[in-house]
Amino acid sequence: QFMKKPTNEPILDYKKGSTERKALEKALEEYASKVIEVPLCIGKERITRKLEHEQTMPSDHKHAIAKYTWATESDIKNAIETGLEAREKWHMKTLKERADILLHAADLCAGKYRMALNATTMLGQGKNILQAEIDAACELIDFFRFNAYFALDLEKYQLISTKASKNSMLYRALEGFVAAIAPFNFTAIGGNLASAPALMGNVVLWKPSDTAVLSNYIIYQILEEAGIPPGVISFLPSDGPVFGNTVCDSKHLAAINFTGSVPTFKYIWKRVGNNLDKYISYPKLIGECGGKNFHFIHPSADMDSVAPATIRSAYEYSGQKCSACSRIYLPESKWQSFKDKFSAIHKQLKMGDVRDGSIFLSSVIDGKSFARIKKYIDAAKSGEDGAKIILGGKCDDSKGYFVEPTLIQVTIPKSKILTEEIFGPVLTAYVYPDSKAEEIVRSIKDATPYGLTGAVFSGDKDFLYKARDILRDAVGNLYLNDKSTGSIVGQQPFGGARMSGTNDKAGGPHYALRWSSPQTIKETF
Ligand code: ALA
Repeated sequence: QFMKKPTNEPILDYKKGSTERKALEKALEEYASKVIEVPLCIGKERITRKLEHEQTMPSDHKHAIAKYTWATESDIKNAIETGLEAREKWHMKTLKERADILLHAADLCAGKYRMALNATTMLGQGKNILQAEIDAACELIDFFRFNAYFALDLEKYQLISTKASKNSMLYRALEGFVAAIAPFNFTAIGGNLASAPALMGNVVLWKPSDTAVLSNYIIYQILEEAGIPPGVISFLPSDGPVFGNTVCDSKHLAAINFTGSVPTFKYIWKRVGNNLDKYISYPKLIGECGGKNFHFIHPSADMDSVAPATIRSAYEYSGQKCSACSRIYLPESKWQSFKDKFSAIHKQLKMGDVRDGSIFLSSVIDGKSFARIKKYIDAAKSGEDGAKIILGGKCDDSKGYFVEPTLIQVTIPKSKILTEEIFGPVLTAYVYPDSKAEEIVRSIKDATPYGLTGAVFSGDKDFLYKARDILRDAVGNLYLNDKSTGSIVGQQPFGGARMSGTNDKAGGPHYALRWSSPQTIKETF
């Protein structure tokens, strides 16, 4: 019944000329040369209608790679009905039977579909090869395997039985359906949001992000090929409010598995609150939202590791990881050395089309993001709140939505650039007097409403652990002497505290429990 602990999927290196690089290049060519029609998938139905929306390449925004339609309210209601019918058989299967389907899906991702997942993530979501591989291949595969492993492991915890009674816990599904609302920035997150509830016997309505429709559709097809029966997961690209309102207003809503912005999650929460008298069960609300993640640098820190770690955290995938570092606190004594080391690496960062294998970063996801990020950079250029551009600052959306990796210095701790989420390749530095290190660490938590990730760099162990204790309530994922991004399934379960989310630790041992409403059974003889 139990499963051997999986190992994390190894990252392929795609060296020029290697077999995997050739296969990836072939997939990139293939997916760049056609416009795939992505249907709504409800039970056995595939609905295309007028395909009025396009997914285009962020680094070449006239280049479409997919066309799709939005589900209407009636499609979404139909998917709920279809799901509830499919639930009858699905939730009665054993956990092992469902876990085997996910393990099969993991193998399909690792082999037959790896290049399709990577190519569509690169072209559609603007990732370079490495960023696609660690997301659309490795993390997705890890989610499938580790969720199966951790879920099966739950049954190791046996209740006490006596001569007179046998006691057991059944990890049954939630009653109703789960709505999975996925982001653009990680292909793997879409796959996890939809498949983890399904693993526990739930039926799921999956709304992909408009800017990640194609890669998410490929995962949907993989899950189908792996054996998820029709109706268990419906794939529903939709208008956000139409999808959100329709699922929140259904009496059968059992849970929402959401990754996206704080305002959207708050909207969902309020809508659910207003509907409480309607529901059969209290819906579970699981949310992973934004952040204003920090690197705090102590005067004793090793600057040779701070600079590259901060470059990676702030600028990989153009700062669009929810965990990306967007504020850095530096002591006066290290500011110059930081700037020297940081700008030496910054000079070498190549930005360009995702198909160029040598780029470090590409463009940001879409015009809306570009405009938002540019507004913050323009504010800094005009010296708002005493801000100064130290590096970068160029924005150009003539071909793709390109934003140069930018470093801004501010002198006002409450400045907007230092406290608001920008979600782009913009890092804001605040330089503090060395003697105030502890005071600054104490100020970090309440500087923003967020609490996702943060990192402390210090060569002084006593200070490091003191900072760890001060920051106990500040973030869901804390890094000591390492960058704030790059959590790995099974190694660093991921989730934010405070307004960053409900902190349910995706990729961790207890995640599966969120999708279960356990039944305790006492049997007497
Ligand atoms: N899990 C992703 C990271 O840690 C968001 O970077």
